[in-house]
Amino acid sequence: MISLQNVSKLYESQSVLKNISLSVGKSEMVYITGPSGAGKTTLLKMIYLAEWPDEGEMTIGDFHLSFWDSKLGWEVSKSDISQCKPFKITDIPYLRRDIGIVFQDFKLLPNRTIFENIALALRVRDEKESEIKSLVSEALKRVHLRHKADSYPRTLSGGEQQRIAIARAIVTKPQIILADEPTGNLDWDTAAGIWRLFGEINLSGCTMLIATHNKDVFTNSGKRVFYLDSGELAKEVVG
Ligand SMILES: Nc1ncnc2c1ncn2[C@@H]1O[C@H](COP(=O)(O)OP(=O)(O)OP(=O)(O)O)[C@@H](O)[C@H]1O
Ligand SMILES: [Mg+2]
Repeated sequence: MISLQNVSKLYESQSVLKNISLSVGKSEMVYITGPSGAGKTTLLKMIYLAEWPDEGEMTIGDFHLSFWDSKLGWEVSKSDISQCKPFKITDIPYLRRDIGIVFQDFKLLPNRTIFENIALALRVRDEKESEIKSLVSEALKRVHLRHKADSYPRTLSGGEQQRIAIARAIVTKPQIILADEPTGNLDWDTAAGIWRLFGEINLSGCTMLIATHNKDVFTNSGKRVFYLDSGELAKEVVG
């Protein structure tokens, strides 16, 4: 579902990811950990194409991206189309359709209701209003916050805001969920609820790649854990 082969990334000629190769299977849940500055966020950003790798190949959902030429850039192919084409910036929304993203700081829009925050991802896809209502309501039910649909983010606790951010990530039924320190701003009990929710989402078939410092989350999880250190994949263990 996700595969990186020899992916490297430079920021201002400084190497922040070096020759990373890893893969995540369909419906698998894996963790990325490592010290601050190791490159965890950068790795996730490359998978959702907020940052662009400088070298390597990536398969993300149905798309395959490979480095083509230093002048011409990347080429992209889709699993059901054999021919590659040069990658264009306008392809990014299509590549991201299969990805839901959860951030440490929730990133909810303060002047929109909870319903509207979640509905936005569907509105940009021109879904019908009746379909939007039913999908948002289903997503809110999965995070147990249906009663908050008309509230504004500032009136919710941190844990509730993160559950809304998760509802926003799953409302489009993506194949992949990426999460970057999703419980970094939450207390231990609230965080435990968020991890349970991620477990349920994974059991429903979603492939999940989660960056976290929190060793308690992956210790004895039976899931694979990738350790990044100074931009290198230092080791892979089963937690
Ligand atoms: N936009 C940027 N421009 C230049 N350097 C950057 C940029 N973003 C990140 N870096 C550098 O890249 C390296 C990796 O950063 P990254 O945010 O991926 O680390 P991280 O493992 O997520 O750290 P943390 O655990 O603190 O979140 C760091 O040295 C950082 O300073
Ligand atoms: Mg980070």
